[in-house]
Amino acid sequence: MLSKRLCHLLLAALVPALLAADPPWIVRSQTGMVAADSPEASQVGAEILEQGGNAFDAAIATSFALAVARPESTGLGGGGFMLAYLAKERRFVALDFREMAPAAATRARYEKLTTGAGDGPPPSIYGGNAVGIPGQLAGLVEIQRRFATKPLAELVEPAIRLAETGFTVDEHLQRACREALADYTNWPQLKERHAQLYESLLGSGEPAKPGDKLKRPDLAKALTLIAEQGPDVFYRGPIAAAIVRAVRIAGGEMMMIDLEGYRVREREPLRATYGGYEIVTMPPPSSGGVCLLETLNILSLVRERIQYPPGWRGSGYPRNLIQALKHAFADRARWLGDPDFASLPVQRLTSRAYAEELLARNAVTPDDFGSTQLPDDRGTSHFCVADKDGNVVALTETINGVFGSLVIAEPYGIPLNNQMDDFTTSAGKPNLFGLIQGEANAVGPAKRPLSSMTPTIVLKDNRPALVLGASGGPRIITSVLQVLLNVIEFDMSMEEAMTAVRLHHQWKPDEVYFDREPPAELAEWLKNAKPACKISTQRKTGVVQAIQFLDDGTFVGASDPRRGGRPAAPAR
Ligand code: GLY
Repeated sequence: MLSKRLCHLLLAALVPALLAADPPWIVRSQTGMVAADSPEASQVGAEILEQGGNAFDAAIATSFALAVARPESTGLGGGGFMLAYLAKERRFVALDFREMAPAAATRARYEKLTTGAGDGPPPSIYGGNAVGIPGQLAGLVEIQRRFATKPLAELVEPAIRLAETGFTVDEHLQRACREALADYTNWPQLKERHAQLYESLLGSGEPAKPGDKLKRPDLAKALTLIAEQGPDVFYRGPIAAAIVRAVRIAGGEMMMIDLEGYRVREREPLRATYGGYEIVTMPPPSSGGVCLLETLNILSLVRERIQYPPGWRGSGYPRNLIQALKHAFADRARWLGDPDFASLPVQRLTSRAYAEELLARNAVTPDDFGSTQLPDDRGTSHFCVADKDGNVVALTETINGVFGSLVIAEPYGIPLNNQMDDFTTSAGKPNLFGLIQGEANAVGPAKRPLSSMTPTIVLKDNRPALVLGASGGPRIITSVLQVLLNVIEFDMSMEEAMTAVRLHHQWKPDEVYFDREPPAELAEWLKNAKPACKISTQRKTGVVQAIQFLDDGTFVGASDPRRGGRPAAPAR
């Protein structure tokens, strides 16, 4: 059996010995839990639970707080996905509030822009043409309307306070600012084009330091307007006008009618079994769920058939994991896009029969697109919420790259996303995350770009056993997959599951990435494997937030220590 022993040899080589006490990024409670990548946002959500709110109330308040405290990753200028479990009705709901492309976003426009950009900043990443119509607020409003118990204004209020009094800067924000400033150094024209971001959040080259308090009075204004007048201020009123103005000044073509036309979509969650567990996850326009299930199906067949000898060296486990990921990411590139515009073979890709076929074929030969630098995890934010009544929320939201497009909707201090880069805007060329994307994901008016976000809930005996998700572009998928397997396959504690070494393979480039130096024996084995597996020199992975549900009713919240989040629990 693919058991603890194998796993501990393979993945846990770098796991520190079990500590007597939990580290600060793990919190236990009997009353509920919020695990976000910002301690202040987790606290906001936990306080809403404490005041009698349900998991949806807490999720909305947490998300507004993240808009204040994680400007580098998420906010009103972005979009996201929510997967939730409604305990009373024993059903799942998946909401899609991903950005949509504006009416002017034609393929011809992006081909021309890309050709004209030369060595300058890529137009799908920087500036007005990078910006998709934000869906974040529409999503939160929809969650409030259908599932919350408290009025929107009450759920926005803690974020207004946080923006007015200031949030605590951490190392993650400081690193993100440095990364953005490096772009300003590379392309000095950005300083003129995107002066607002440079002068505000980037501190004119001297960003705030960890421990500093950073106030966001401009964003507080926008949040107050939303609390007082509702979401129309954002989609039809003064904030809409500010977004359109900012995008157009930055060279884009967004119109008021684009914002007015934004719609949240409900999607049918994807489901599959693995061992004695049921996995419920996000369907397209995220690729996350499809890739997760395709990979798990292959590994599940392997697990049923192969009696691994002890130790990774003699086993095929790392090879099977990498091969499964290559199949999934190859299919992502070929087949996936916006389900509203193309019929996607989701059923086939996530079927056991297809996994059998792939396992028998056992080969993917990547074309030679060359290797490309993956950006570090800066954009995107995931959080999980669970309440005492059994409701569970997994919500991943993003403005995509670090500070999105660098465009700020003034005077409201809202960083606007660069989600247009998640489309195929230049056929055959890798995007910001080094992903090759296909025809099904071609840019076009009103389409939603393919995502990797993977909010996921795992059931055991029809009850939630684990909820998780991640930030980190395509490494979201591999991070969710490995933490999930660490818990349900390898029986690791949350601490072990989070800190175990992680690998990532996305088909192209044909390299395996680790989050840190891989164990020497494993590196050697990969180098000598047939076909040989090139190990990237980049050391990166995603950032996972999770809650595990123990049989005795304990919620174990965990915020990946790679980013400095802290879970928080209601006091009662
Ligand atoms: N923008 C990152 C993702 O949606 O996967």
